[in-house]
Amino acid sequence: MRINRKRLEESMERLGRIGETPKGGLTRLALTDEDRRGRDLLVSWMREAGLAVTVDQMGNIFGRRAGSEALPPVMMGSHADSVPTGGKYDGQLGVLCALEAIRSLDDHGVRTRHPVAMAIFTNEEGARFQPAMIGSGVMAGKIALEDAYNARDRDGLRLGDELERIGYLGAEPCIPRPFRAYLELHIEQGPILEEEQLPIGIVEGIVAISWSRVTFNGVQDHAGPTPMRIRHDALVAAAEVVRGVREIATRMGGEFVSTVGRLDLTPNIPNAIPGRVALSVDLRDPDDARLDRALPLLDALVREAAEREGLRGELEHYWRVPRTPFDPGVVGAVEAAATSLGCGHRRMLSGAGHDAQYMAAICPTGMVFVPSRAGRSHCEEEFTAMDDVEHGANVLFLACASLAG
Ligand code: GLV
Ligand code: MN
Ligand code: MN
Repeated sequence: MRINRKRLEESMERLGRIGETPKGGLTRLALTDEDRRGRDLLVSWMREAGLAVTVDQMGNIFGRRAGSEALPPVMMGSHADSVPTGGKYDGQLGVLCALEAIRSLDDHGVRTRHPVAMAIFTNEEGARFQPAMIGSGVMAGKIALEDAYNARDRDGLRLGDELERIGYLGAEPCIPRPFRAYLELHIEQGPILEEEQLPIGIVEGIVAISWSRVTFNGVQDHAGPTPMRIRHDALVAAAEVVRGVREIATRMGGEFVSTVGRLDLTPNIPNAIPGRVALSVDLRDPDDARLDRALPLLDALVREAAEREGLRGELEHYWRVPRTPFDPGVVGAVEAAATSLGCGHRRMLSGAGHDAQYMAAICPTGMVFVPSRAGRSHCEEEFTAMDDVEHGANVLFLACASLAG
């Protein structure tokens, strides 16, 4: 039993055109018109495949194929939103391989004991609305529905309103439900599989992630007549934090990573001293205790930068996901599928967050990784060779079939 590579490739090409950038990447931010067009196309394919499609209160889309017994489903899934100038594989590939696995069950006339379902989760990237993985987070009971609805994008638009605007505010309660298992195929987004020339990663878990927001309120003033000695420049304090966040990773060592990825600057013109700056801090480590030890370093950094520049600094640690181990039974099923296909593989930890991280809180969960060229992602250069996609899809398909009985 194998998936249909040609059909999968055609689906990748068609979905990849919605929100395609001139350089062949993808900009399909959550709950935009592009996201709606991508969702509409996926839903039409799910219906063509005979799935019963439902949408929940968070706009998560589910499609279900009946099983022969009244048992909880095996669910596969991922997300269809992207980061700005991102790639066509992150999330998209997991959704399309889930659909392909279900289409392939039909091709081979397979009846499973458990129903088999697929999911497309809302706003996984956290690019437009924070935090990331918000659709699966609400479903796992880790984020309150109202908090999710009240998340606002850069222009002040509310997530709940945008869900309604694109027609994906569903009626089904977004609450934890029983699943036999959750499986997610994803690109690795790091260099290991390519370096070791292996087509498959068996994901054993995901690192701990912490997101913080730093705000400096200085004094906006004219860039010309204001002498240096009386300035309170919010961007100068922010610059210290950018450098200092890098140094936190150096100090922590090991696999600790730290990133300032977002800077919002007011008024952001050449001839005014920046009065207000907000920046994001993303910290990750495989070990929760080490991440805990890093947070006070960030606190001190912000305090000292604010003192030096004589302005007010605020720091909010607003999102945390703990190190998440996956279920040994599901990890074993993925490994057995890779072995039976003769695919070279290794076990590994994910440095990126995924909906699987929240799903693991409510059901046995595992993931399949496929290689990323040069380890790159969240960029237009993101690429995975079709041979690797095919191997990954087959591993997902067989693992799903085995877990669904
Ligand atoms: C999801 O893309 C993440 O931030 O890890
Ligand atoms: Mn992703
Ligand atoms: Mn991503």
